Amino acid sequence: MAVKNFKYVILGGGVAAGYAAREFAKLGVQPGELAIISKEAVAPYERPALSKGYLFPQGAARLPGFHVCVGSGGERLLLEWYKEKGIELILRTEIVKADLPAKTLVSAAGEMFKYQILIIATGSTVIRLTDFGVQGADAKNIFYLREIDDADMLVEAIKAKKNGKAVIVGGGYIGLELGAAMKINNFDVSMVYPEPWCMPRLFTSGIAAFYEGYYANKGIKIIKGTVAVGFTSDSNGEVKEVKLKDGRVLEADIVVVGVGGRPLITLFKGQVEEEKGGIKTDAFFKTSVPNVYAVGDVATFPMKLYNDIRRVEHVDHARKSAEQAVKAIMASEAGKSVDEYDYLPYFYSRSFDLAWQFYGDNVGDTVLFGDNNPQSPKPKFGSYWIKDGKVVGAFLEGGTAEENQAIAKVAKLQPSVENLDALTSEGLSFACKI
Ligand code: FDA
Ligand code: NAD
Repeated sequence: MAVKNFKYVILGGGVAAGYAAREFAKLGVQPGELAIISKEAVAPYERPALSKGYLFPQGAARLPGFHVCVGSGGERLLLEWYKEKGIELILRTEIVKADLPAKTLVSAAGEMFKYQILIIATGSTVIRLTDFGVQGADAKNIFYLREIDDADMLVEAIKAKKNGKAVIVGGGYIGLELGAAMKINNFDVSMVYPEPWCMPRLFTSGIAAFYEGYYANKGIKIIKGTVAVGFTSDSNGEVKEVKLKDGRVLEADIVVVGVGGRPLITLFKGQVEEEKGGIKTDAFFKTSVPNVYAVGDVATFPMKLYNDIRRVEHVDHARKSAEQAVKAIMASEAGKSVDEYDYLPYFYSRSFDLAWQFYGDNVGDTVLFGDNNPQSPKPKFGSYWIKDGKVVGAFLEGGTAEENQAIAKVAKLQPSVENLDALTSEGLSFACKI
């Protein structure tokens, strides 16, 4: 068996891997010391582009345009960059076995990789309707979206089924972003989700009412409180209809499913401590196994601000956790230390002409402020979350860069508020004066 040896191995070639590589380079990694092993065929890229610009009918984003680290305003890391730094990018290589005590990884093709320090950055995989045995869910033109290959297949189908009917299953991030993308591609779009309003993980009913109204004005049909229980297909095996639990049947040329993700940690089962569905780490992203770190979607880490441990499936944390882990690794080799990770949750999304940002924690009471009329030419509205008399979370649609910074500051500083009615009428100006 071929064996390759590296001082540092990053397993996974997504967002966290790319930002970790840049941090290693900044801190002086030597040629030949670092390898990234990825089952994808391309160098690390900014995954959020796949559900947005990648699907535009005109002027679509394409690689190499969105390789890391452009998403946070940094230099684009092209293949040449890795070569220049002596970082080995081992692509199209799926690891199928990890032996943490032996410090080895084995690929599907039977190559063995040895490391001294491992960073697990395997991210998430999609939950599939076939996982719960939904009848007919293996029909052609039922798509999921996680990697660039998935996006390419969807782009081909969009061309093949021009001006057709699309059904979006799921009302979370993928549901809302793909509902918009399919509409922009001139599909007749229906969205189906079981909850009383979209994105219930984060949105209040007031926030959701705006997006549902806006989508409805764009001609998207929203069907709530039911789920897809089966699909019929034509003689080519292509999806034709979506059967709903409430008895309705929707015609479909393309179905896009976004019913959640699952962190990819099966390779490490029984070898490392887990918590809340992820790999448990400390504030430096060290796992329970010496010399093994976990970052990005797979890490369950101490959220210092809330004295809690959490897992976060968003790009800002993937970037920052990767940088923190590399800083901690390099510092400990130099006999130094770094500060604990002190993360302020930050999520965002964009669809149509809309863009929202959220910072902090969505717990406690809420107030809604601003112009949330979906018919407004320039809607701008938001919400605060208030717990124990303090503002702990803030959401803003349509904010400027300065206004978004202001709500971030509020979520970080957690100012006290006494009167929620006064906070509602102060609205955004409350954040802007902090
Ligand atoms: P990520 O998924 O980026 O990378 C994991 C890598 O590991 C992949 O390259 C995978 O192939 C590889 N891998 C896994 N197992 C392997 C194995 N056994 N062998 C080899 N390689 C393996 N967030 C946000 O804040 N705003 C946004 O707008 C969006 N938009 C968005 C759109 C879409 C379509 C998705 C799927 C996700 C988002 N996200 C997002 C979420 C964000 O992209 C996500 O949290 C980060 O990509 C997580 O980074 P990781 O590096 O942890 O995993
Ligand atoms: P999600 O958890 O955001 O949403 C899942 C949704 O699936 C639920 O809200 C629910 O409406 C729906 N659902 C659950 N079971 C269902 C069923 N049987 N039938 C119909 N609907 C059902 O997950 P997602 O949207 O699939 O996103 C996957 C991953 O990608 C997540 O990690 C997410 O954070 C990430 N992502 C993030 C962004 C962003 O941050 N802007 C964008 C895209 C993807």
